[in-house]
Formats: sequence, structure tokens, C-alpha cells
Amino acid sequence: MAPRRQSRCPGCSWATGVCLLVASLVPGLWAQTVLVNDTVSGFIGTDVVLHCSFTNPLPSVKITQVTWQKATNGSKQNVAIYNPAMGVSILSPYKDRVTFRNPSFKDGTIQLSRLELEDEGVYICEFATFPTGNRESQLNLTVLAKPTNRMEGTTRPLIARSGKTEKIPVATCMSSNGKPPSTVTWDTKLKGEAEFQEIKNSNGTITVISRYRLVPSREAHRQQLMCVVNYQLDRFTDSMTLNVQYEPEVTIEGFDGNWFLNRKDVKLTCKSDANPPATTYQWRLLNGSLPENVEVQNNTLFFKGPVSYSLAGTYICEATNTIGTRSGLVEVNVTDKPLPQGAPGGIIGILGGVIAAALIIGVAITVFIIYRRQQKSRTETDNDLIDLPPSHKPVPPPKRKQEMKSHLTAEDIQVVHLDNMKQEEEIQKLPLQTPYYDMAASESSPYSDKLNSGTKDYDVHYAELDTSALASSPSPRSSIQAGGDLVEYATIQPNLR
Ligand SMILES: *[C@@H]1O[C@H](CO)[C@@H](O)[C@H](O)[C@H]1NC(C)=O
Ligand SMILES: *[C@@H]1O[C@H](CO)[C@@H](O)[C@H](O)[C@H]1NC(C)=O
Ligand SMILES: *[C@@H]1O[C@H](CO)[C@@H](O)[C@H](O)[C@H]1NC(C)=O
Ligand SMILES: *[C@@H]1O[C@H](CO)[C@@H](O)[C@H](O)[C@H]1NC(C)=O
Ligand SMILES: *[C@@H]1O[C@H](CO)[C@@H](O)[C@H](O)[C@H]1NC(C)=O
Ligand SMILES: *[C@@H]1O[C@H](CO)[C@@H](O)[C@H](O)[C@H]1NC(C)=O
Ligand SMILES: *[C@@H]1O[C@H](CO)[C@@H](O)[C@H](O)[C@H]1NC(C)=O
Repeated sequence: MAPRRQSRCPGCSWATGVCLLVASLVPGLWAQTVLVNDTVSGFIGTDVVLHCSFTNPLPSVKITQVTWQKATNGSKQNVAIYNPAMGVSILSPYKDRVTFRNPSFKDGTIQLSRLELEDEGVYICEFATFPTGNRESQLNLTVLAKPTNRMEGTTRPLIARSGKTEKIPVATCMSSNGKPPSTVTWDTKLKGEAEFQEIKNSNGTITVISRYRLVPSREAHRQQLMCVVNYQLDRFTDSMTLNVQYEPEVTIEGFDGNWFLNRKDVKLTCKSDANPPATTYQWRLLNGSLPENVEVQNNTLFFKGPVSYSLAGTYICEATNTIGTRSGLVEVNVTDKPLPQGAPGGIIGILGGVIAAALIIGVAITVFIIYRRQQKSRTETDNDLIDLPPSHKPVPPPKRKQEMKSHLTAEDIQVVHLDNMKQEEEIQKLPLQTPYYDMAASESSPYSDKLNSGTKDYDVHYAELDTSALASSPSPRSSIQAGGDLVEYATIQPNLR
């Protein structure tokens, strides 16, 4: 097997090589060809030109005839013939639709008018020559058909039913009798699904049908659904807005949780989202009948006269449209006093916090200033101070502190002074911010106690938050007020450790 193959292949390629060599040496043999367009296409009803030309005719070669044929099922059917001696012949059924454009020894081009689907197929252009014989080429003619596109919604009304999960067709998009077939897609935010179907017609065209299905829901109402058909370079779109019917979605407005005794002009309004809109509203109490002094107007329940305890109860509103009835409820309770409106406690808390923070900063700065001054003046008064006993005995203020008197009483300065003396070394180690930061966290903060009206926790909380925000802007006024509180600060100081 193997040796045989080896001997065959060289022979083969050798023969091919000789053929090519001969062909290139004899130009007439090689270059005498029939030129056509490989593929030609046209839409139904339009005209197409089927080019055909004979290249490099040698003077010695005679063209005897040009023949166009259509290849059908393997057999060939004559379409048109040009004979330089005899003239032109167009055969049935092409008599009225085919013409030679410029018949000659070199040109066999024809025009085929008013294309029909049946024209599609393989066409052969043949040049009969003497003495070299026949030369031919073939082309494929494709007939295109533009589809007709259409979208339509279902005629059935779409009704949302709770608990139903069955998808029903809501729209159909059809691209009929296209060739080649169109591409159909949907463009929508809806969460449905599309199914596609292609129908091949006997004449070769294709109808593409797509149905869009979804579970009708309240959310789908008024949503856009767009069908997009792409055919060749054409784009067709059509859209519709869904109309889904659904039963009322009921809410009751009017109860603010603050129906206190003797309040006037209260009412409950039944609101419903429904398609079609709710036509009737029914009010009732969960158990028992409606109070006597109520008046029902459309969807509103007006309470005549001042609020009394008898109004309390669970009120139910039933809204009905053609799809169904749904209800909403509200639990009305009556209080003896109005609830505090807004959040005054909160505002006081915030205000208290702000003031407390300002005070703390003021104290811190004052302490810092005093401490600095003491350090400076200590060099002068050192001996005197060391001699003093560590008690709350009155001490004459240092000379340098005279100007502080307008802000601080002598007593204040004494206490701070003495405490500083006791904890001199501790304070020097402490970072400067530490005192007021820790004080804010301390629950026994004297500032918040003084300012607030009971809600201590809130005030402390806000003071912590606001300290940093206010740190850059201590007001001079608060430092004056802080002067009186320095005693307190001094007593807190030991807790810090
Ligand atoms: C078809 O062929 C002719 C010449 O043979 C040329 O002029 C023409 O451009 C071709 N058309 C296409 C679409 O290729
Ligand atoms: C082509 O052949 C098929 C069967 O092979 C036949 O049904 C059809 O009619 C033929 N078409 C023509 C144009 O002869
Ligand atoms: C022409 O059509 C035939 C059969 O329909 C196919 O076999 C051939 O590949 C086509 N030629 C071209 C150039 O499309
Ligand atoms: C092709 O066939 C379909 C269905 O039979 C028909 O509706 C359509 O008009 C036909 N198209 C042409 C161009 O004849
Ligand atoms: C009254 O109703 C409001 C709102 O429904 C509720 O927040 C509140 O707790 C109720 N008060 C009493 C005392 O039941
Ligand atoms: C309403 O119902 C509650 C609990 O179901 C019951 O305690 C109450 O007595 C009822 N009121 C009336 C007026 O029936
Ligand atoms: C209430 O109903 C009356 C007729 O009964 C109508 O004239 C009026 O406009 C309605 N009011 C509202 C707010 O729908």
C-alpha cells in the first residue's frame, strides 16, 4: 500500500505541474474564460442585471452563440439565446422579462425584470466557440422578500389574580413572508418570556411569529412592551402599553396616632389603587357598628363633633371595583391628652448638648490659661505656696491674677489652685484635651444636670457628639459662665484616673 501511494503522488503532482506550465505558455487556452458575478440578489418586483462577458477572444476563435440557462433539479432550461448570425431568442416564460443589454461577441449580459420568487436559482452563461468548444460560468440568483411586520396585543383583558402564576400571552409580534427570515426581539422592562415560531411558506418565504407571555400583575400595568424586527438593514419597532386590571389596593389615611379627647374635625379617608378605579367604598368597625356621629361621603369618613373614647376601634374600609373587593384597616385609639407634637424633648436635648459642649470647652480653655499663668507665676511665688498646707484655706490671689477677677471669684481660683498643687505632677503628664473629653462622658456632668429637664442620658449623649464640632469655636460668654463651675470640675478631676 505504502509504496504504491508514494509512486502515485509524485506522478500526480508532476501532471498538474505540466498542466499549469502548458496553460501559462498558451495564453489563449488559459485566459479564455466567461466572467459572471457569483451571486446576484434582488427584491421581488425589482430588476436585476446578470453580467456575463467573454475575456481574451483570439482572432482565430469564433463565437458561434451565447446561451443563458437556468439549472433546475439537475436539468437545464434555456432562458435566452444570442446568435451573431441569427439574432436574439428569449424563451417562455421569460419572453416579456428578459432582454440582452448589449449583445456582442464579448458581452452576453441580460436584464431580468420584475423579479419573482420563482426566478431564484442557478443561472449558467455559456459561450459556444469554434474551434475551441464551449466555455461557461454559473451564478446564483437570490430573490429577497421584504416581510410585513405587525404587533398586536391580546384582545382578552389582562386581569391580575392573586395566587395565579400562569403566564398568558399579552402580545404577538409577526414578521410575515420575509426572505431571508427576520429577527424578532422584545424590548421591555417586563419580566415575561417570549416564544418564537418560524413558518416556512411553500414559496420560500418565512413568517416569524413571537408571542410575549407574562403573569398579569399590578406592577405590569402601564408598562411598555416593544417589539423589534430586524430585516437586513431595516429595523421595525412597534410598542404598546399594557393595561392590566387589578383589584383595589387599600390604604386608610387620616389617623395620625394623636386623636385626643375633644379634638375636632377628624376623618378617615380610604385610598385605593385599582384598575378600573374602585366604585364603592364600605366602612365598618371590626366588631360593632360605626359610631352614630359619623358621616360617610364617597370614600371619606367624617367624624362630627369632638373626639370621644367611643370612637376607638379598628376601622375597615372595603373598596370594590369590577375585579374584586379588598379591604384595609386602621386601629384608632383615643388618648386623653394630645401627644407632644414634633420633638421638643429632642430639641432641648440638642440645645442642652450644644451649650454643655460650649461650657466644657470654655472650662478647658480657662483651666489651661490658669495653669499656664500659674506655671509662669510659680517661679515668683514658689516659696510661699510650698509653705501652705494642702487645705481649702483662703489664699491671697497671686499678683498676676488680678485681671482675672472680673471673670472668676477669688474662691474659684483658690480651689483650682490648690487642686493643681496636689496633682501637679499628674496634670503635667495629662494631654490637654483629656479633661473635657472625659467630663462629657461622665454621667454626673454638672452642666447637663443644670440645663436639662430630666432626660440626662440624651444630653450626655449629645454633648459627646458635639464637643468635637464645637471645639474650634468656643464662645467667650460660655467661658464666663464656666467660671462658676470650676469648683465642680476640680472635684471631678480625681475620677479621671
Ligand atoms: C458584476 O460584474 C460586473 C462585471 O462583470 C461588474 O462591473 C459589477 O460590478 C459586478 N457586480 C457585483 C455586485 O459584483
Ligand atoms: C424538482 O424535483 C422535485 C423532486 O425531486 C419535484 O418535486 C419538483 O417539481 C421539481 N421541480 C421542477 C421545477 O421540475
Ligand atoms: C449557488 O447555489 C448552489 C445551490 O443552490 C450552491 O451549491 C452554491 O454553493 C452556490 N454558489 C454560490 C457562489 O453561492
Ligand atoms: C408566499 O406565500 C405566503 C403564504 O402562502 C403568501 O402569504 C405570500 O403572499 C407569498 N409571497 C409571495 C411574494 O408570493
Ligand atoms: C395608638 O395607636 C398608635 C398607632 O397605631 C400606636 O402607635 C400606639 O401605640 C397606640 N397607643 C395605645 C395606647 O394603644
Ligand atoms: C371586639 O372584639 C374584641 C376582641 O375580639 C372583644 O374583646 C370586644 O369585646 C369586642 N367588642 C365588641 C363591642 O363586640
Ligand atoms: C363625592 O360624591 C359626590 C356625589 O355623590 C361628588 O359630587 C363629589 O365630587 C365626590 N367627591 C369626591 C372627592 O370624589
